[in-house]
Formats: sequence, structure tokens, C-alpha cells
Amino acid sequence: MTQETTTIPIAVVGASGYVGAELLRLLLGHPRAAIAGIYARSSAGQPLAQVLPHFAGRLERTIESFDAAAVAERARVAFSALPHGESVQVVSALAERGVTVLDLSADLRLRDPEVHASWYGGVPVSLPLRQRAVYGLPELYRRELAGAKLVAVPGCYPTGAILAIAPLLAAGLVQPDIIVDAKSGVSGAGHALTADHLYPEVTEGIRAYKVAGAHRHTAEMDQELSLAAGQRVHVMFTPHLAPMSRGILSCVYATPRNPDLAAGAYHEALRERWKGEPFITVLPPGQLPDTSHVRGSNRVHLSVAVDPRARRVLAISAIDNMGKGAAGQAIQCMNIALGLPETAGLDGVAAFP
Ligand SMILES: NC(=O)c1ccc[n+]([C@@H]2O[C@H](COP(=O)([O-])OP(=O)(O)OC[C@H]3O[C@@H](n4cnc5c(N)ncnc54)[C@H](OP(=O)(O)O)[C@@H]3O)[C@@H](O)[C@H]2O)c1
Repeated sequence: MTQETTTIPIAVVGASGYVGAELLRLLLGHPRAAIAGIYARSSAGQPLAQVLPHFAGRLERTIESFDAAAVAERARVAFSALPHGESVQVVSALAERGVTVLDLSADLRLRDPEVHASWYGGVPVSLPLRQRAVYGLPELYRRELAGAKLVAVPGCYPTGAILAIAPLLAAGLVQPDIIVDAKSGVSGAGHALTADHLYPEVTEGIRAYKVAGAHRHTAEMDQELSLAAGQRVHVMFTPHLAPMSRGILSCVYATPRNPDLAAGAYHEALRERWKGEPFITVLPPGQLPDTSHVRGSNRVHLSVAVDPRARRVLAISAIDNMGKGAAGQAIQCMNIALGLPETAGLDGVAAFP
């Protein structure tokens, strides 16, 4: 059998944003990807290297205004890295034209339209479109992703939290009362200018935000962890803004069902569940995840500890919000959907230090 080597024409919509830029960076290193078009709104008409100078000499293209018919003519696959509420129009226009679409926004992640409306409001998304979208967490939905034409790529915080605790919930080792305490780099907020994301306001400090059920990613964690546990899970989620540009460290707290179970049992459950996963490493006991060890990569570092005095299990994950939390994961989904090797374009290690 001959190995297919033709290139796959790919469009990136929202190419001037942080996630769009990371998609382009990774796709430039992908053995089968060819960038067929790059699209954005206010930066349309400008050379990419003028908007994002790190592409100078590497990707000499002009950013264009989005036009569904033109994209469908040029590209077989499109990534939509637009704000939620805006993305769904683009996704729906491309899906209708037969393009394989990976949506990085939250528009199609929640399975129940009423739950989506209660968290995001806005224009309702057509139910058939929502039902067609596969939730793009390959470690849970690899089978559904094979051949998928529409993928709702998970949020960054949910990715870190779900990979840390879903196996323990699924194995019935912990109760469904989950606390997620996570710290994110500032790139998680995108490149739009807001005063509270200016350098002097984020450096040398750390703050919680959208606490006590106010952050929209809570709904996604509830949804996926409930499915993993086979019973209703309500997550208490506290996000923090940390003085770094990339990375998410998630500390996920749960109550053990058996208070006498030692840490080794939880460690083994994680190791067993993620055995063979190309991007997940369950660190040896005693080693703890650090965002600087996954920075710039699609990798996930996990560990688990038990505090018998407090009767709590603590699962910890580190991911790069731009990598496994967004662009890397989207490309992993594309690879699976198209039947390519899952790690194609994604086997780089972290940029450390
Ligand atoms: N940042 C993260 O860590 C992260 C992680 C996972 C998922 N996400 C999701 O990924 C999406 C993009 O996030 P981001 O952080 O990259 O945001 P961002 O930096 O603000 O970029 C948004 C991009 O969308 C473009 N845009 C906005 N409206 C448009 C329209 N109507 N037509 C064409 N282009 C349009 C912008 O172009 P102009 O600037 O040229 O107008 C820009 O390129 C969001 O839905 C976000 O929730 C982000």
C-alpha cells in the first residue's frame, strides 16, 4: 500500500488572534498541511507578518476578509478561532459547503441548547448543527472523531480539569463533588485590549475572577464530568489569572469514596486510563506538574496526591492553554478526523525554560 502524501489545503479564520497564530505556527510544521487562506476582521487587507511579525520570512500571506464560498473553494479543512457568538455563523456556512470544520469557540460545545442559552445567551444555534458536532477531546471521543466533519474543540480550562479527574470519577474512586482551582496565563483572554490585562495590572500579582459558578467553562466541566461519572456532577470552579503568558495549572479536589485508599491506587487509575495516550504523561509519584514543562507543546502532565487528614484527593494537571488547551488539540482532532497519524505536527516538546 502506498502512503498518501498529498497536502491538505487548510483555512484559518481568526488568524490574527492568539489561537489563530498558534494554529498557523503548528500547521507550518505539519507534514501534510498547506495554508490555503487566512482570515480575520479588522486586520483584513494587511500582510500577516505586519500584524504578527514572528511570521516574517516564513508565511508571506495577506489576511483576507472571510467569504464562505471562497474558503470552501480553496480549503478542505477550516479552523474557526473566532469569539463565541461570531464563530457559529462561519462554522455553519462552511459546514453547509462540505468543509471539515474545527470550531475553537464555545458555540457548539454544550450539548443541550437550553444549557448553552442559559450560559451564553445570544442567537440560538440550530439543533442539527449542535448535534453534528463531536466534542473534540480525543482521549474521550477518539472513535467519534474518526471521520468527523464538525468538531467543537473543548475549552482550555475544561481540558485541564477533565483529563485530571475524569478517570477517577469514571472508576468510582471519588464522589461527584469536585472543586477545580486553576491558574491561567494571560493569553487565555485573547489579544483584545482591556485595561485589566495590561502588563502592569497582571505582572507581580495573581487574582481570582468569575468565581462561584460565574465562569462559563463551569458548564462544560459539569457536562463532561457528569458523562464520565455516569451521574450528575456539579463543579465548583475558581479560575485565576497568573502573571505568565501561557499555561494552565489545575488543582482538582475530590472526596474519596474509600478514605483508606492510598495515593498509589489513584495514581494507578490515572496511569491505566491514559496508558498509550500520545500526549499524556502521568508523572512518577513525588513529581508535580509545572506549566513551564509543557509550554509550547501539546503535552499534558498529570499527578495525583492524597491528604488522609483532610480526606481529599488532589489531581493536578499542567497544559499549555494555546497548545492542548486550543490549537494543538484542534490539530490533534483534525488528524484523527482525516485518518492521519494523531501526532502529526504535534510531537514537539516544551520550549523550556
Ligand atoms: N486564548 C485561549 O487560550 C483560548 C483557548 C481555547 C479556546 N479559545 C477560543 O478561541 C477563540 C479565539 O480566541 P483568541 O484568544 O485567539 O481570541 P483573539 O486573540 O481575540 O482573536 C480573535 C480573532 O477573531 C477575529 N475575528 C473576530 N470577529 C471576526 C469576524 N466576524 N470575522 C473574522 N474574524 C473575526 C479577530 O480578528 P481581528 O482582530 O483582525 O478583528 C481575531 O483574529 C475564542 O472563541 C476563544 O474563546 C481561546
